[in-house]
Amino acid sequence: MNSANIIINEPYPIHIGSGILKGFNNEKELFNSFSDLVILVDSNTVDYCLPWLNMNIPQLASANIIKIESGEPNKNINTTIDIWKAFSENYVNRKSLLINLGGGVVSDIGGFAASTFKRGIPFINIPTTLLAMADASVGGKTGVDLFNFKNHVGTFASPNAVIIDTDFLSTLSMEQILNGYAEIIKHALIADKALWKKLKIMKLDSSINWEEIIIKNVRIKHKIIKNDPFEKGVRKLLNFGHTIGHAMESYSLSHGERKLTHGEAIIIGMICEVYISVVQNSLDVFYANEICSYLLLNFSKYRFPHKNISKIVEIMKQDKKNINNKISFTLLREVGEATIDNFVDISLIEKSLEYYLQYV
Ligand SMILES: NC(=O)c1ccc[n+]([C@@H]2O[C@H](COP(=O)([O-])OP(=O)(O)OC[C@H]3O[C@@H](n4cnc5c(N)ncnc54)[C@H](O)[C@@H]3O)[C@@H](O)[C@H]2O)c1
Ligand SMILES: [Zn+2]
Repeated sequence: MNSANIIINEPYPIHIGSGILKGFNNEKELFNSFSDLVILVDSNTVDYCLPWLNMNIPQLASANIIKIESGEPNKNINTTIDIWKAFSENYVNRKSLLINLGGGVVSDIGGFAASTFKRGIPFINIPTTLLAMADASVGGKTGVDLFNFKNHVGTFASPNAVIIDTDFLSTLSMEQILNGYAEIIKHALIADKALWKKLKIMKLDSSINWEEIIIKNVRIKHKIIKNDPFEKGVRKLLNFGHTIGHAMESYSLSHGERKLTHGEAIIIGMICEVYISVVQNSLDVFYANEICSYLLLNFSKYRFPHKNISKIVEIMKQDKKNINNKISFTLLREVGEATIDNFVDISLIEKSLEYYLQYV
């Protein structure tokens, strides 16, 4: 193993660094113990990332390539069937290794296809977006969207390793940087006040040391899920912004206005859930204003008709367990501290969406 850049070793090694792929050229153990290698790419990472991977690790040049179309609308069961079909045609078996080379869509669907094919084949994640580096590639959640619901079908399945080479970020658009930055803000707000203080004055330009920030984020996520890998308790902390965010994302996939990225959707979710945190979880209104102003200033705004608030709440009700017309939320108590299992009235959820609408 290339131990120099391992920042976490259990339950699987996570390597992080700029240019670290070069060091994997001699990693006989990681790749050679498998009968064959398969790389899953999407229609962008095949051009932007695969050549760089092959240049650094020539032994991967002979791997079978499976390509899917890029983007969230393709994170579905039909694409999964295409991947399973390609696995079958390439005689993939439990001695094979799948390498997911891409953003969160590739690691979610690739991990899902791998963990279900022949009852589970090994896979590793090589994330290529900021969002996948700071969040999606670690933690062992896989899945696809179904019936317009986000991650409606999925598994808990750990990769054999995660290799995060921040050099892949150089070809990402600003829109995609912001998409990942949303999860980074979430991690800071739920668990690391010092990180939030740093982020709120940081300029999003080429001077950013992403390696340092991603290491902090992976450590935050790892610490939270270490004792709760199957989301029975504290792992729900990571859902901050996601109860409303996922409903917004699902809504935007099926309504005309514009398709939101995952990050844009959870920004809306965080603004609404900060509002709810003030009303129901004693979050200081000063910090709430500071957070919401920052998010509204740095992320694009999304307008939807006021009358569709009920549709968004309906998506939430179907997606999440609701008891006595209340839905469970993770809310902020302070900056850097959140609480789970807060049951929120539908009427307050509607108010929070109205709160968002008055600023867009
Ligand atoms: N499993 C988890 O714990 C978890 C956590 C957070 C998010 N997610 C999931 O992650 C997904 C979002 O991930 P994402 O934002 O990475 O989306 P994505 O995978 O769709 O990538 C965004 C876009 O960037 C392109 N791209 C990828 N790498 C590139 C590169 N280096 N240069 C240029 N273009 C590149 C992709 O082709 C795509 O068009 C959502 O489906 C979300 O549900 C999962
Ligand atoms: Zn997310």
